[in-house]
Amino acid sequence: MTSETVDVRARTPVAPDGRLGAAPLHPGLSDPAYVRRRDAIAALAEGHEVGAPSPPVAYTEREHETWRQVHAALTAAQQDTVCRAVLRARDTAPIPADHVPQHAEVGDRLHELTGFRFTLAGGLVPDERFLGSMARGYFHAVQYVRHPAMPLYTPEPDVVHDVFGHGTHLSAPWFADLYRLVGAAASRVSSEDALDLISRVYWFTLEYGVAFERRRVKAYGAALLSSYGELGQLHRADIRPWAVERVVNTPYVAAGYQPVLYAVRSLDHVADVLHDFLDEFDEGTRDRLGLPTHDERGAVT
Ligand SMILES: [Fe+2]
Repeated sequence: MTSETVDVRARTPVAPDGRLGAAPLHPGLSDPAYVRRRDAIAALAEGHEVGAPSPPVAYTEREHETWRQVHAALTAAQQDTVCRAVLRARDTAPIPADHVPQHAEVGDRLHELTGFRFTLAGGLVPDERFLGSMARGYFHAVQYVRHPAMPLYTPEPDVVHDVFGHGTHLSAPWFADLYRLVGAAASRVSSEDALDLISRVYWFTLEYGVAFERRRVKAYGAALLSSYGELGQLHRADIRPWAVERVVNTPYVAAGYQPVLYAVRSLDHVADVLHDFLDEFDEGTRDRLGLPTHDERGAVT
């Protein structure tokens, strides 16, 4: 992130197997009709106020078919690669098998379960707005669907990512508590340095977190839950023990497969470490803990 969404045309080409720059352009990048459709859906978010209803999208049959293909593949892939508690959350989540759900459909169910709703994003969402809205129970989500020619891979987060990943999380009260925790911490600060520290912690937990379960590495991060390819490649990732001082020193690129993942001992441990770090987080945390500052490129300074 915390660029939750990015300009599809600005992304580095990434192969489905994770090799940066080694792939031909993603079909979505060279299909003007797709880009127009994607941009038209994204444009619905212009001027959108957090908490206002998302305008409904008249999805095409082709988009519904892409959803159905991904739904079938992800549901199968998650079975052996995702933490059990997350699978239980998924079973209560608003993830229909046969159609792309509208934000209202997802939000109404999430609200029943945890008080969260989706709020509309159309592209890059600044950290302050993206993270801060979580404190008030709103998660920024997009509405466009990935390109149909490559349904199991997308170069940018799409509605599949937001529903399968964050929709699953926000169906479980204990996950929703962590989103609110991140949001509350972000709401107490305004500097880029402080928001960047929070975004790195968020990235290596709620987006790309993994946990040990019966001595095996299982996914719980939303980006992994919604990525068929990455679930199949978990064994190839460089898995390191999760620690605040490690993740805040690890810049990330919100593109392609993440080469390094940080594993917690258990999902209970995720909650413990996030509360330890974020409960009292403020502008003074960086100095008190001796954490690094970051220049504009995200490099540690
Ligand atoms: Fe995400």
